[in-house]
Amino acid sequence: MEDRLVSGSAEMEEVYEEQSLRPQTLKQYIGQDKVKHNLEIFIEAARQREETLDHVLLYGPPGLGKTTLAAVIANEMGVQLRTTAGPAIERPGDLAAVLTALEPGDVLFIDEIHRLPRSIEEVLYPAMEDYCLDIVIGKGPSARSVRLDLPPFTLIGATTRAGSLSAPLRDRFGVLSRLEYYSEEQLKEVVMRTADIFQTEIAPEGAAEIARRSRGTPRIANRLLKRVRDYAQVRGDGIITHGIADEALELLQVDRMGLDHIDHKLLKAIIERFRGGPVGIETIAASIGEEAVTIEDVYEPYLLQIGFLQRTPRGRIVSDLVYRHFQMEVPTE
Ligand code: ADE
Repeated sequence: MEDRLVSGSAEMEEVYEEQSLRPQTLKQYIGQDKVKHNLEIFIEAARQREETLDHVLLYGPPGLGKTTLAAVIANEMGVQLRTTAGPAIERPGDLAAVLTALEPGDVLFIDEIHRLPRSIEEVLYPAMEDYCLDIVIGKGPSARSVRLDLPPFTLIGATTRAGSLSAPLRDRFGVLSRLEYYSEEQLKEVVMRTADIFQTEIAPEGAAEIARRSRGTPRIANRLLKRVRDYAQVRGDGIITHGIADEALELLQVDRMGLDHIDHKLLKAIIERFRGGPVGIETIAASIGEEAVTIEDVYEPYLLQIGFLQRTPRGRIVSDLVYRHFQMEVPTE
């Protein structure tokens, strides 16, 4: 898998940079209205009762603001945020160390929670349910189990695949919130807000053009904004007009729907080699030299979302929209 300008996953430097762009409150957080309105009520209720917030599971494609939302929730609750990730926790002791370091009311954020090993999930169950930790000390016949009390805390789990979470773990979350792709209008707002933080002048039409090509994903919108800002500075007078945004994005090979060369390769392979489908995912994978899971997890979700690809029991089909997008003749049966 190669680096893509339009990937929803965070690049290494972005992890830090995003912290400075991040909204602090639900009011500042753009989009995800349904999730936000629910959280507003749950947070207010927990605060009134002076209790911790129920455990929250955030799921949806990468780049939609799961980490950001976890930070906002901690801030709104007035507690500390502790962050870790599924792959970082290898042994039960790793999780025990994280849990015992919590202070009352803290939010523990576990990113990619579906990648926690099963043996560690089991440590998490009593922690989530009863705020306690059963640890085994010693080995063999002299081994015994000790129960440690934990401070009450809120677990916020994030995952791109809610389906691969085990049922017992999923059932222990009181709040399940699915994050949706952003509308162009919402992304435009995100772009204007970030440009303001960067102190970059931007025309509303320039912001709209960046938003249109950002695949419903704020992380991509902010990444494209940075590249367009560079272009505006070097080739223009620093102001992001519609024309500048359009030129810069053409140069970056992000097309009018936010598709890049990998999307083009995938869609054109289905059209040219399989007559538009239906074709099985494994066959597509072999044909373009990618892994099937990468196609399913990374390339496909947005193409399905915009209706360019359809999933059928017999395989993938490209829709008429794709032929029109490539200015090709729509085949008639
Ligand atoms: N920056 C990135 N995502 C954002 C969001 N949802 N709201 C405000 N600013 C953002």
